[in-house]
Amino acid sequence: MSVSVVILAAGQGSRMQSDLPKVLHPLGAVPLVLHAMRAAREIEPERTVVVVGHGGDAVAKVVRGEDELATIVTQTEQLGTAHAVDQARAALEGAVGDVIVLYGDTPFIRPETLEAMRTARASHDVVVLGFDAADPGRYGRLITQGEALERITEFKDATEEERAITLCNSGVICADRARLFDLIAKIGTENAAGEYYLTDIVALARAQGLSAGVVRCDEAETLGINTRAELAQAEARFQARMRAEALENGVTLSAPETVYFAQDTCIGRDTVVDQFVVFGPGVTVESGAHIRAFSHLEGAHVSRGAVVGPYARLRPGAELAEDVRVGNFVEIKNAQIDEGAKVNHLSYVGDATVGPRANLGAGTVTCNYDGVFKHRTEIGEGAFIGSSTMLVAPVKVGAHALTGSGSVITMDVPEGALALGRAKQETKPGLGKRLMERLRAAKAAKVKG
Ligand code: UD1
Ligand code: MG
Repeated sequence: MSVSVVILAAGQGSRMQSDLPKVLHPLGAVPLVLHAMRAAREIEPERTVVVVGHGGDAVAKVVRGEDELATIVTQTEQLGTAHAVDQARAALEGAVGDVIVLYGDTPFIRPETLEAMRTARASHDVVVLGFDAADPGRYGRLITQGEALERITEFKDATEEERAITLCNSGVICADRARLFDLIAKIGTENAAGEYYLTDIVALARAQGLSAGVVRCDEAETLGINTRAELAQAEARFQARMRAEALENGVTLSAPETVYFAQDTCIGRDTVVDQFVVFGPGVTVESGAHIRAFSHLEGAHVSRGAVVGPYARLRPGAELAEDVRVGNFVEIKNAQIDEGAKVNHLSYVGDATVGPRANLGAGTVTCNYDGVFKHRTEIGEGAFIGSSTMLVAPVKVGAHALTGSGSVITMDVPEGALALGRAKQETKPGLGKRLMERLRAAKAAKVKG
């Protein structure tokens, strides 16, 4: 049975007090809307439709970057959740099976819960995801009769008696596509908000003799984000979950509460992550690596046995092969560091390949940028780059070649050669001492006068 997904993301999110559309605020270093999209991806939807409105172009760009097959539809005026879903009508024309409606500002929904809703569709025409709210506040209330769901009443329209109900509407619903749009067509705006309420489909379905049911989930899963404070709380909750998952998966975290993960961080078992490490998006660390304290990684891949940091920075395109060492105050960007190579201190390696077991001395810099273009540096297997070598790209250093400390290397160095690109040393016997004596005498004369 196939399924399509509609994600509502047209709202302004005015309580965020932001020029950035709400669903683009990051959680776990990834825009909110992508959390819902990634949960949806797990149930392999046939079609995905994202309804955008406020900041629609920016939201569309992020959505496309994630899934170029997703359909973007625009809701120019936000007339309510049913009106929002209705914008997906044409995009879902001819889709067979069910539709699940999700919110772009509700990032914690689990794929397992979406599966449970699909399963529940075997017994009900309309399935709503509900939760027992500790503080039901302004949520819609689920009015049940035994196991059957009769209707959903919005807080604004609810009687005192209904407001006392704690079983609330998460907003996630599942129904057959054709049926869903038939029901939506019948929804009006006779309610306290004057909006098209998607929640009305339950009462409409029941009036037609169809059945509706509730799947329950934990309240934490349906947590929506409306304010910066809620975003901060959600981030804390997200980090706590990621840390717990890492520990469960066999990753050692010496001080879990100081390590920050992105939504897609992937760390293999028996890897050790020390204190105060930050993972930006797109990081994979294989098993048995060691990320030492105060390191920052983003868009990087670290292989088995590699040791990174302390105080290392891996930027997008950093590819560390097995047993590589990247030490303190080293930055690696868009560079492949092959097996067993060492970049241990104070270096910048960008737009480069470093061969197996090459050794880059302290303060090695790949001068990759000429102010307009970026150029590549290639360092061969087992090469030894002397401390403080400037490699002015484009440049190649052959396998097992050496560069002298302090060299500025502007021409290719053949395999096995020694390249020295620095001023020749001159030594004047006794001159150092005489110079100092002269300077001290000058100072003494000045103090006296
Ligand atoms: C909705 C539900 C309520 C539920 C609550 C859960 C309705 C009528 N009410 O209320 O029962 O308890 O969510 O959080 O459905 N959106 C659009 N276009 C619109 C309106 C909304 O895209 O025209 C999007 C919003 O950006 C948001 C989501 O739909 O992501 C929910 O809208 P919101 O206005 O927050 O609905 P609630 O009043 O919270
Ligand atoms: Mg809301």
